[in-house]
Amino acid sequence: MKRVSKKPEGQSTRGKTADNRLRRVDNFLLLYEPSLLSRTDGLFAESLFVDLGYGFDPRTTLESAWRFRRSNPNLRILGVEIDKKRVEAAHPFADEKTFFRLGGFNLPLLSGETVRLIRAFNVLRQYEEKDFAPAYERLAEHVLPGGLMIEGTSTPFGNVWSANLARRRDVILSGALGHDESPSQLKETLQPFAGSLKVTNEWTFEALIFSTNFHSGFDVEEFQTILPKNYIHCVVRGEPIYDFFEAWKRSALEAASARTFGLKQWFTASAESLSKKGFELDLHKKWLGKGYLIWHR
Ligand SMILES: C[S@@+](CC[C@H](N)C(=O)[O-])C[C@H]1O[C@@H](n2cnc3c(N)ncnc32)[C@H](O)[C@@H]1O
Repeated sequence: MKRVSKKPEGQSTRGKTADNRLRRVDNFLLLYEPSLLSRTDGLFAESLFVDLGYGFDPRTTLESAWRFRRSNPNLRILGVEIDKKRVEAAHPFADEKTFFRLGGFNLPLLSGETVRLIRAFNVLRQYEEKDFAPAYERLAEHVLPGGLMIEGTSTPFGNVWSANLARRRDVILSGALGHDESPSQLKETLQPFAGSLKVTNEWTFEALIFSTNFHSGFDVEEFQTILPKNYIHCVVRGEPIYDFFEAWKRSALEAASARTFGLKQWFTASAESLSKKGFELDLHKKWLGKGYLIWHR
């Protein structure tokens, strides 16, 4: 398979990572849609899980390989880094189904390769807000319809994180499938998304996820500090994300009596109270009991 050489889009940023920093991200994905990782139908059979911006070494990519291959031993995995030295550092860990390549938002794929899932963690946080929408647009190019991207920000050890969960719309891929023309949907005007930012209609923003392992307690404000790039500067009066946080803080206070039963119970009760204020949340115990709050957008 031939690779079209192209200059990686983006910029090298700090490469800090940590053991198991993204474990809860992977566990979330395995619980949210296990079939996305295990499916072997059609183009999905060979399609990749892409870890974009794995950092100064590929530990998080290799940890995910171990986790995800328990449900799909043949899963093809691609770690992408924009920093050449970090790619070289990862090469000794490559094998016939684990690849490390130099690249950017324009993913370094071989002709015919497609993507089922992208994880981009602690990458966009180091960019400017204006870079957000173009990055999403670029990353959509080779993702199969129905595929997902989880893109977010975490604390240094991954105890607390938040992420956008975006699904590739069911449109014909222009590059990967050999079509010259973009479908008409792709030419439509930009759709409003969150705050002042916009993304093209290649992605449906399915949910905003908040995750905590409760090691640092439960404080709604902590989530505010690790919001994805498209929200971090939007927590201002008049923006939906501001209303959300104000309502969640009120809900946590209202539910404070549940605290006596433990932090998980308090977190769960705060979500139940928040849901009553009109926010579309997934209240299933399998999420709240594990410290995941899913806000459907
Ligand atoms: C802070 S590290 C995150 C490492 C790991 N994902 C984690 O969460 O622990 C961010 C990495 O993303 C890389 N990066 C930044 N922009 C990129 C881009 N456009 N394409 C690929 N890698 C990129 C940087 O070089 C850096 O190594």
